[in-house]
Order: sequence, then C-alpha cells, then structure tokens
Amino acid sequence: TTKIIMDTDPGIDDAAALTMALNNPELDLKLITTVAGNVTVDKTTINALKIVHFFNKDVPVAAGAKLPLLKPFEDAARIHGESGMPGYDFGEDYGHAIDMSAVEALHKEIMAADEPITLVPTGSYTNIAILFSQYPEVKDNIKEIVAMGGTLGKGNMTSAAEFNCFTDPHAAKVLYDSGLPIVMVGLDITLKALLTADTLDKLEGLNRTGKMLHGLITHYSDGDENGHPMHDVNTIFYLLHPEFITTEDMWVDVQTEGPAMGETVGDIRGAYHDGKTNTKVCVDIDADAFNKWFLEEVSKIK
Ligand code: BDR
Ligand code: CA
Repeated sequence: TTKIIMDTDPGIDDAAALTMALNNPELDLKLITTVAGNVTVDKTTINALKIVHFFNKDVPVAAGAKLPLLKPFEDAARIHGESGMPGYDFGEDYGHAIDMSAVEALHKEIMAADEPITLVPTGSYTNIAILFSQYPEVKDNIKEIVAMGGTLGKGNMTSAAEFNCFTDPHAAKVLYDSGLPIVMVGLDITLKALLTADTLDKLEGLNRTGKMLHGLITHYSDGDENGHPMHDVNTIFYLLHPEFITTEDMWVDVQTEGPAMGETVGDIRGAYHDGKTNTKVCVDIDADAFNKWFLEEVSKIK
C-alpha cells in the first residue's frame, strides 16, 4: 500500500478524488487537510468531513489556510456551487475537524510515518508552502508530491494559468522549487480524460456512492456535452494506474507576476537549468481506461 496525505478544497472533483482514495485498499490515506480554493476553507472543511462521514471512515480532517500567501482570494463557486458540493444531501451530522491546524497536522503525521509518505494536493498549495518554510525537515520523509494543477498548454483561469496554481502562485513556486520529486497532474491530461455522459448515466444506478457522485457531478459546471473533467481524480488514477498515463521529465518554473501569473512553464527544450529536471509532467492519458476504471472503482464501494 501507498501511504498518502490529501490536501484538498472540495469541490466536486476533490470529493470524487477523496471517494477513490478513502476506499481503495492499495492506498492508505492518513490525513486530509483543507485549503481555501473552490470555496472558503470553512466550507471545504465541512465538505471533506461530509465525505469521510459518508463512508464511515475515521481519517482525520485538519483545517488549513483561509487565504493564499500573498494574492487576494477568489473562489470558484460559479463552477462548484455556493456550498462547493451541491446536488446531494449529506445531512447535518458529519463530525468535526481535529483541534490542530493543517500545517501542524501535516508536520506531525509526516514526521511520525515509518516510511516516506506521498503528498497529494488537489487544491492550491498554500498549506504545503507554509509547511516547508516552517518545518523543512518534513522533506526528508516525503516520497513524492503528486499534485493536481498546472498546464503546459492553455490555462482554465487565464490564458496561461490553471486554477490551483493561479489561486496561490507563490505557493506553487515554493512547491516546484522544493527539490522534492513532483508529478504534475495538470490540464494536459485532465481535459483529455473527460467523464463521459454515458459514464455519468451509469453511475446513478450503481450504488449509494454512484448516486452521490452522480448528484454532485450533475451540478458541476466544468465541462460540456463531451463530458466533465474530473481533474483531481487523475492524481489517484496516476497512483493506482500509471500505465495509462504518459509522463515527460522536465523542469517546471512557476510565474508569480503579470499576465502569466500562475503559469507553469515546462522547459520542454531543456533551455534553462542545464538539462536538469524537477518534475514528471503528465502529458497523455487513456481516457477510455479512465472511464472504465472510474465505474469499476465506484461499483466496488459498498
Ligand atoms: C482544479 O481547480 C479546481 O476547481 C478543481 O477542484 C481542480 O483542483 C482544476 O483546475
Ligand atoms: Ca481541487
């Protein structure tokens, strides 16, 4: 099994990623930390708790950064709804976040792990940037960072920037400059592996998990008649099925100023950094395999 920590901003695709991570026996999810992103951190924390409670798991949830490091906060409620997780009634009984901040909980869990742990951020990287500056020793016990965010191609917020990197570009820079092994799970693949209308239809009748995800995804404004991008779920698919994803090693630099703010510049020509690389960038994915896996995974959840 792979020990992982998810740092997340649910968010509909985050909720689907948590669903997969909480229920797959090959993943050992030790901790969930939350960050402001799709909606405010108060809401992303409640949403993470709702998912954990829905599956009756006891994975701790710790609330994190309310605001990006330097940039003003802008949510994505127009995509994920005012609550961040519309379309399903989870009830009002969903427990509480632990009495420790995300950064403190990350520090404690990473240092306590008996083997290096994989970080899976699917929101902006504010908590992780603060963690690295406050507790740099955690880096010795992190195996890799499999991060949703970034793009080699066009952005989904600005011409250049993807949402998670745009939300906190300074934190994204800290992550890419960290010296740790990084897998960039960006729009280059997440916009290819669309969840099709056929997959969405089939989800509804599968079981209670399928019904829940169907409810959320039918309220998700990202996507069109071709399907919905399940951005964050691609991190979990990569961890479980790297054989369906093509990666390229390159150096990624993050821009923090001007019209390219939040852009992840992949040095595809090796023009900077003397041919050294800091990131495995996901560049291609088998979209049919993703859809098939998505349905199979959900059908296995009791
Ligand atoms: C990313 O932005 C958020 O809205 C999604 O949850 C995903 O993490 C996609 O750009
Ligand atoms: Ca997200």
